[in-house]
Amino acid sequence: MNTQLLDGAAGIEQAAALLAAGQVVALPTETVYGLAGHALNAEAAARIFEAKERPFFDPLIVHLPSLDWLGRLTLAADDVLVRRLIEAFWPGPLTLVLPRRAVVPDIVTSGLATVAVRISAHPLFRAVLGRFGQPVAAPSANRFGRISPTAAEHVFEELNGRIPLILDGGPCAVGVESTVVAVREGALEILRAGPVTAEELGAYGEVVFPRAGSGIEGPGQMQSHYAPGTSLRLLSRIGESDSWQGEGRAGLLAWSRAERPAQFAAMEVLTPRGDSREAAARLFAAMRRLDGLGLDVIVAEPPPGGGLGAAIGDRLRKAAGGR
Ligand code: TXA
Ligand code: MG
Repeated sequence: MNTQLLDGAAGIEQAAALLAAGQVVALPTETVYGLAGHALNAEAAARIFEAKERPFFDPLIVHLPSLDWLGRLTLAADDVLVRRLIEAFWPGPLTLVLPRRAVVPDIVTSGLATVAVRISAHPLFRAVLGRFGQPVAAPSANRFGRISPTAAEHVFEELNGRIPLILDGGPCAVGVESTVVAVREGALEILRAGPVTAEELGAYGEVVFPRAGSGIEGPGQMQSHYAPGTSLRLLSRIGESDSWQGEGRAGLLAWSRAERPAQFAAMEVLTPRGDSREAAARLFAAMRRLDGLGLDVIVAEPPPGGGLGAAIGDRLRKAAGGR
């Protein structure tokens, strides 16, 4: 299959036409690029799993074209807490896990009684859904277990030859995947840390984290995920790289510094100005660049706490395989 890269009006038109034909297309969102297919068409959803080599036990996020779809796909449209969260954070990087209606195919939810939904704020994504008029299932547009794509070129590296179209919207503004929250009996259970922080969510309800050993609900919670091919070591504090002595050629994924310590063959600086938003937007591209250098190890400094630091720390721990 020939993979086309398009932008602008022609790209939007073509993406909507392919979705209507049951095909899958890569679309930019504010977080990462998604691999989209008609959410109510089980065959289209199956194509997503196939292109990504994603196991069927890992459910997909359904992206809504508009708010009226919430009541058609879930049983929570009148829930007061859900309404307040939506008012505060949609469109945007918050995914809600809610009791679902039967119209959502089992393949999309991996047979769970819940469905994950969000509305993206990205203008191109919204334009495609506006034209298509149906919800799309869209996981990140990478092969399973690999680094999420934050630019059209990354999607091309991951899925060239497997999908007909990548809609190029330039680099993603946020850079880490949406916060995934299950709303259960008035409590907010954070299943995946993300751009909407626990501090922000705390203003709306009691925030809980999944109990250890409560079972994996989705691979977003697996210990090894979002991983580069090169093994990654997460340091315990910023600056610890100065004392790092390892074997072989090492690259440093630095939080914020100007000079490269002599023991590192390469370095990427996440945020020269020390801002976690900037770091999040650059994280996956920087990991991808270091991964492409054939190093023996990538050594990463942890983010400072607070704000997007929690989501970045979560992705780095997963890239390190839980080590
Ligand atoms: O920002 C994002 O969320 C991006 C863009 C494309 O929207 N999408 C994304 O999708 O990151 P994906 O499939 O890579 O991650 C979705 C996460 C997975 O960890 C999955 O297990 C979890 O959401 N998930 C989906 N449905 C669920 C459900 N019903 N219950 C619990 N977890 C669910
Ligand atoms: Mg993913």
